[in-house]
Amino acid sequence: MNEPVFILKGNIIYSKSLTELAVCEHGYLVCRDGRTEGVYQTLPFKLGGNPIRDYGDCLIIPGLVDLHIHAPQYSFRGLGMDMELLEWLETNTFPEEAKYKNQEYAKKAYTIFSDNMRRSATTRACIFGTVHRAATLLLMDLMEKTGLITYVGKVNMDRNTPEYLREETQASAEETREWIKDVLHRKYKNTRPILTPRFTPSCTDELMEELKKLQMRYSLPLHSHLSENRSEVEWVKELCPWSEFYGDAYDRFGLFGSDCPTVMAHCVYSDDRETARMKENGVFIAHCPESNMNVSSGIAPVRKFLREELNVGLGSDVAAGSTENLFRAMAHAVQASKLRWRLTDESLAPLAVEEVFYMATKGGGRFFGQVGGFEPGYEFDALVLDDSRLSHPQALDVRSRLERMIYLADEREIQAKYVKGIEIDLS
Ligand code: GUN
Ligand code: FE
Repeated sequence: MNEPVFILKGNIIYSKSLTELAVCEHGYLVCRDGRTEGVYQTLPFKLGGNPIRDYGDCLIIPGLVDLHIHAPQYSFRGLGMDMELLEWLETNTFPEEAKYKNQEYAKKAYTIFSDNMRRSATTRACIFGTVHRAATLLLMDLMEKTGLITYVGKVNMDRNTPEYLREETQASAEETREWIKDVLHRKYKNTRPILTPRFTPSCTDELMEELKKLQMRYSLPLHSHLSENRSEVEWVKELCPWSEFYGDAYDRFGLFGSDCPTVMAHCVYSDDRETARMKENGVFIAHCPESNMNVSSGIAPVRKFLREELNVGLGSDVAAGSTENLFRAMAHAVQASKLRWRLTDESLAPLAVEEVFYMATKGGGRFFGQVGGFEPGYEFDALVLDDSRLSHPQALDVRSRLERMIYLADEREIQAKYVKGIEIDLS
């Protein structure tokens, strides 16, 4: 199945821009050496003779990108969300994450996670592990086998954490260094390390300084949380009285996108200064609407971020979000934006289907390079969707069929999935 050139035939849809879809009905999508060569209504003569996989009336869209998910929390997805963030962490999250000290438990849990990610609509993801080096390596071994392209992080936390999960500052830095060396030694094709300080409340200044040294030594991107919840934002003010705003508490250590790509989850309470700094530093925002509803965080001002042309993608944030299904994240992003518009700020218009589709493909895809579109040169990540299970009596155009997928699709609609030109086993 890995011919250097092959062609998918079907109804091809991708984002031309934030507000515009490109549609090619019954068209040809050509892959050469893992990248898109082009989309054609009529196959050019010179490409004849290459294998064609005809998917009939199916939709073909770019793979979806999850900029923020916690692998160890997958075990309690859909459970225990009658709390706000800080209580939820203490009650549900930390006790569960402590279990990953045990390799047997980690293997059982991460096998379920990686199998379900393989079968999901996700082709790329930024993944939190736990503080445990061995379990995080195991997670990376399992993700590597899925064929998905992912950034995975060993979490750092050396304060405001229960004793059973807390690391000593130097030990945290040392374990991270050893983990990076182990990862480099394993020479993964699809799986990359990402620095993962949990969030400012759980990392001392000294640990942040150590992580900056590692970032510069190994050129690593960074993944963390930002301005998710009111109590959290207040807590950061107390912990870092010198900071101008929450994001500044990362930026003082050079850990806010100035040197290496950075993804920050949530940004529900990012003020103008924080937003301006994110724009200046090219920080990627992982908008996680379902999580923000489940743990009563609020609704991020995504319209504002888009207007100001920040980098915005979507995150499932399992287990504060209940599902890895990014179609749900797209629908939730639209729905949350409507409530925000109606109840909070009528100057910030709700998000349209085109916009959330962009965020789930090109918006987050850019964190991985030329990913999330079908323009020539883009890495060939594609989902083939068979929407025939969801029957309807009337004729629907391709754009409407995509809209229905955003509200209704799950893994049952996924007929095939390709990452960088390689077909993923969905069994
Ligand atoms: N902030 C710090 N840790 C977490 C986490 O595990 N989930 C969410 N949603 N926010 C966090
Ligand atoms: Fe999170």
